[in-house]
Amino acid sequence: MIVELKKDYMEIFGQEPERAFFAPGRVNLIGEHTDYNGGNVFPCALNIGTYGLVKERQDNKIRLYSKNFNSLGVIEVSLDNLDYDKIHDWANYPKGVISVLKKAGYEIKTGFDVLFYGNIPNGAGLSSSASIELCTAIILNNIYNMNIDKVERVKYCKQAENEYIGVNCGIMDQFIIGMGKENCAVLLDTNTITYTYVPLILKDALIVIANTNKRRTLADSKYNERRGECNRALESLQKVVNINNLCDLNLDLFEKYKSSIEDEVCMKRAHHAISENERTKKAVKVLKEGNLEAFGMLMKASHDSLKDDYEVTGKELDTLVELAWKQEGLIGSRMTGAGFGGCTVSIVKEEYVEEFIKNVGIAYKKEIGYEADFYKVKVGDGTREISI
Ligand code: GLA
Repeated sequence: MIVELKKDYMEIFGQEPERAFFAPGRVNLIGEHTDYNGGNVFPCALNIGTYGLVKERQDNKIRLYSKNFNSLGVIEVSLDNLDYDKIHDWANYPKGVISVLKKAGYEIKTGFDVLFYGNIPNGAGLSSSASIELCTAIILNNIYNMNIDKVERVKYCKQAENEYIGVNCGIMDQFIIGMGKENCAVLLDTNTITYTYVPLILKDALIVIANTNKRRTLADSKYNERRGECNRALESLQKVVNINNLCDLNLDLFEKYKSSIEDEVCMKRAHHAISENERTKKAVKVLKEGNLEAFGMLMKASHDSLKDDYEVTGKELDTLVELAWKQEGLIGSRMTGAGFGGCTVSIVKEEYVEEFIKNVGIAYKKEIGYEADFYKVKVGDGTREISI
């Protein structure tokens, strides 16, 4: 991979790159739509992600090129003007991170030429945007010796996504992409930012990601709408109980206080967040005990809650998950990420994986009219410099 990217770099920028970096994509195993409600999430980093090859320049220009968007060519900006510009398309993600770090007072003396290449399917809900953000943050940190703590980098990238890009996401994606560890998932308490690495011992099973290939139009606005509904539920609850986040309540306490939420939709959203938080904690417990079957059943309950209470699944995701549950060798399956299209994550016994992909693939096409894509992924390390 790197050899080929070095050639591309040479062709585009006319010189050799000096350093190379990698930021993974992510998949969330359980704990969906809890990260902006002060709850727990349980994601892992993937072995696919974004590569960034770079060389410093002597002037204040930054030239950015993505092999994934080659028709857009080299995008050139100056360190003196890093404002969001629609015309810069994908390059607004790295620009956002550079801008946030600069505003935070980090010194960027000169510009650089950077080539990005991502092998995460774009817009599929595996966090290609957080991946390029974290890749940019490590590039700046390492080439300009900024010495920014890893968790701080994660927070700056989230800030770029929230304030510069305008998507009001929680911290999960940036966190796991920055902090992931090979063969481990991370239990992250998003309220306190305390985290534990949990070895992902799947015995004879593999993680299979299936992409609905549904176009995710309006996903960002629907995401922000769900956040608003959760906030309204929280405001109602705060009139009767002293809490800062929905996930400060367990299900018993929620039952006690839920009548304070007048709006039925908001009540359902809150029920999802709180029940999902409990499921996530249980899921980690049973996984540690080696009870994969119980883990799978919690994945099922998670999907049902996202479908019925949170209403972020839709026909394509539901079809993939329903088909998955009909296959032999299936341990668990659910939608992953924000929803409204995107991907499902399934844990499938290795000997049944090929059959699983074939059967689900055929039946999905028959039902939906177009194909799903499948990825057998491995759990990899978080963002890092790689040798060039
Ligand atoms: C997106 C957001 C995350 C999280 C998930 C849903 O991936 O970026 O912060 O809220 O949706 O769990």
